[in-house]
Amino acid sequence: MENRAQWGTRAGFILAAVGSAVGLGNIWRFPSVAYENGGGAFFIPYLFALLTAGIPLLVLEFTIGQKYRGSAPLSYSRINRKFEWVGWWQVFVSFVISTYYAVIIAWAMSYSVFSFNLSWGDDTEGFLFGEHLKLAEAPGQFGGLVPGVLIPLILVWAITLGVLFKGVKKGIEVANRIFIPALVIIFLIIVVRALTLPGAMEGLDAFFKPNFDAIMQPDVWVAAYGQIFFSLSIAFAIMITYSSYLGKKSDITNNAFITGFANSGFELLAGIGVFAALGFMANQAGVSVQEVVSGGVGLAFVVFPQIINEFPALNGLFGFLFFASLVLAGLSSLISITETYVAGFSEKFGISRNKAVAIGGGAAALISLIFATRGGLFFLDAADYFINQFGVAFIGLVEVILMAWILRKLNDFQTHANGISDIQLGSWWKVCLGAITPIVLGYMMFGLFKLNLLRQFESETGNYENYSNAFILYGGWFVALFALVAGILLTFKPWSSQTKVENYKEVG
Ligand code: ALA
Repeated sequence: MENRAQWGTRAGFILAAVGSAVGLGNIWRFPSVAYENGGGAFFIPYLFALLTAGIPLLVLEFTIGQKYRGSAPLSYSRINRKFEWVGWWQVFVSFVISTYYAVIIAWAMSYSVFSFNLSWGDDTEGFLFGEHLKLAEAPGQFGGLVPGVLIPLILVWAITLGVLFKGVKKGIEVANRIFIPALVIIFLIIVVRALTLPGAMEGLDAFFKPNFDAIMQPDVWVAAYGQIFFSLSIAFAIMITYSSYLGKKSDITNNAFITGFANSGFELLAGIGVFAALGFMANQAGVSVQEVVSGGVGLAFVVFPQIINEFPALNGLFGFLFFASLVLAGLSSLISITETYVAGFSEKFGISRNKAVAIGGGAAALISLIFATRGGLFFLDAADYFINQFGVAFIGLVEVILMAWILRKLNDFQTHANGISDIQLGSWWKVCLGAITPIVLGYMMFGLFKLNLLRQFESETGNYENYSNAFILYGGWFVALFALVAGILLTFKPWSSQTKVENYKEVG
């Protein structure tokens, strides 16, 4: 479209990109993923994935968005019509992620209120699964909506869609200008406090102590790539969409480095803060850190409330700050995830932005109700694992193979980015995208597919989290496949006549 919305300033774009990157992935996901995948040894695949795949892909996506000025599907179509489906695949992965991501923010919202009088009591686990989530007996059951989740969920969607209705500059940019500085201040307060608690150092020791056996396993590597992609918001259409609102002469490469390092810096800070606090908790209970740590949902919503209970002073305030930081980080990311399909739908169907927000956002909000039922947590866990390993990480692989090997666009993109950026890309960039990432990620991905397929067919037990085969099939594989199939189907519908796929005004 010709009169494309634009960011007001360079800082506005960077804040929005950082706001998208820094999210639940940094605070809720990273510490437990790192811990479960070898602790300190996880930093080896993590840093490797950041430097050879994360940042190079971020540069690639910023270049695609800025050069082709479209949502992910439109940009892919403009590169080559045959590959529009890859753009939609990414958009639908985002769509799926937004439906459960909103629910986690909703829990955090409730917990920030619970903090004031520590209403989770002493049995924080019983509180989360019993009183708060009213968890169903077994995976696969719905069991009715849980009002305590539904109400904050409505609020989460109201804020997100409200910001999106206001547009790129007045909505997204303004929201991030408020959320991100607030988040940084709150988070620094929490981390400094955590580091000064007794036992903090033992926590850090547990976090950084390497388990070198872990780095030989393919799932650890795919987890590292998955974490980097999820955390940097790459391979799910977001950064292409956000950079499509850049001006003609905007910097690309330096912006990508700033975003990448800001995100990983925040992630590391989150890991340090979380493990310092875990060390404190172990110290209070007189046990080892290993005994208090837990993965995934349990870490933020079971263990953290316990830690807050034990705080020497101002428990309610610190509880509120921690959960408020999850809410702020989560909202700025959810806004970006939702923007991918708002942009895609509005260009595809030639409808106004507001209509696209109402239809796309409305549909996502409705589907998110599944995760607000009593069985919601099981669905969420399976969807999150499968959509990340076989959505995000796999698409990242498809994206590099496509750009580097099939369409051979890297030289072209390098010249484009170098023409407008402060930092010049050297051949290292092409080596990372053309060789290192496809080989390492491809090899690991193959191993992971094999592992999960074997699990699926060999036995009833041994699936991811020991879920039953049937549940893994529709709660996991189908969800990941849905994004691909929906993406392919949508390419059969022609673009709206208002959207020029060819002969549009290309930048540069
Ligand atoms: N990048 C976002 C996060 O880390 C999606 O949560």
